[in-house]
Amino acid sequence: GAWTARIITLFPEAFPGILGLSLTGKALKQGLWNLQTIALREFGMGRHRNVDDTPAGGGAGMVIRADVMDAALREAGRGQPLPVIYMSPRGRPLTQTRARELAAGPGVTLICGRFEGIDQRVLDAHQVEEVSIGDYVLTGGEIAAQVLIDATVRLIPRVLGNHDSLAEESFSIGNRGLLEAPQFTKPALWDGREIPPVLLSGNHAAIAKWRSGEAEGLTKQRRPDLWRAYADKHVDPAKDRQ
Ligand code: ADE
Repeated sequence: GAWTARIITLFPEAFPGILGLSLTGKALKQGLWNLQTIALREFGMGRHRNVDDTPAGGGAGMVIRADVMDAALREAGRGQPLPVIYMSPRGRPLTQTRARELAAGPGVTLICGRFEGIDQRVLDAHQVEEVSIGDYVLTGGEIAAQVLIDATVRLIPRVLGNHDSLAEESFSIGNRGLLEAPQFTKPALWDGREIPPVLLSGNHAAIAKWRSGEAEGLTKQRRPDLWRAYADKHVDPAKDRQ
């Protein structure tokens, strides 16, 4: 079957959201991936289908109950086995490498939290992996889940038309894990600004060299962390005393 995103959420109506548009939307309609939502509310307790309670030890907000999330995870587990990821600012940062790994597998079950979090016991019991999309706090995991799905679905074979664009983009092998060089298009002169002449030279070797230098400069400036990883692998230490 096609790559599957299975989502446990209090807001199933948030999906597909923007994933229903453009490239990911077209691929969804073509059956290159599919989306299943599991409404957490359906597993809530009592007449009001309560899913949360006050935090043990006190503190602000509400915590999603272990028994409620366990019931939703069991429902998710009835389908094709998929890795389970909880979208959380406490998780390991999402990377292009993780997106590639997930794209190569059968899909993913994503848990979207709300409130102050989820009872730790159910995360431990199901050995749930936690993934963050960055060092900031969202009101819930739904937008983060959409970010992970978007980054992953575009790597599924036949979703992107032109595979060269994958090979050359930021973080790709072809770009050596560096940020991408800037892009330009016609007109050649706009608002008194020229396109770098080398890009109009037709000299493919010179263009590749220019892009490589731009990628290095940009990465050095903006992402010293990525630069370090690159320099350790690619740069002659004798030449890289800065
Ligand atoms: N949920 C709330 N904030 C988040 C973040 N930064 N990453 C992933 N999931 C989240």
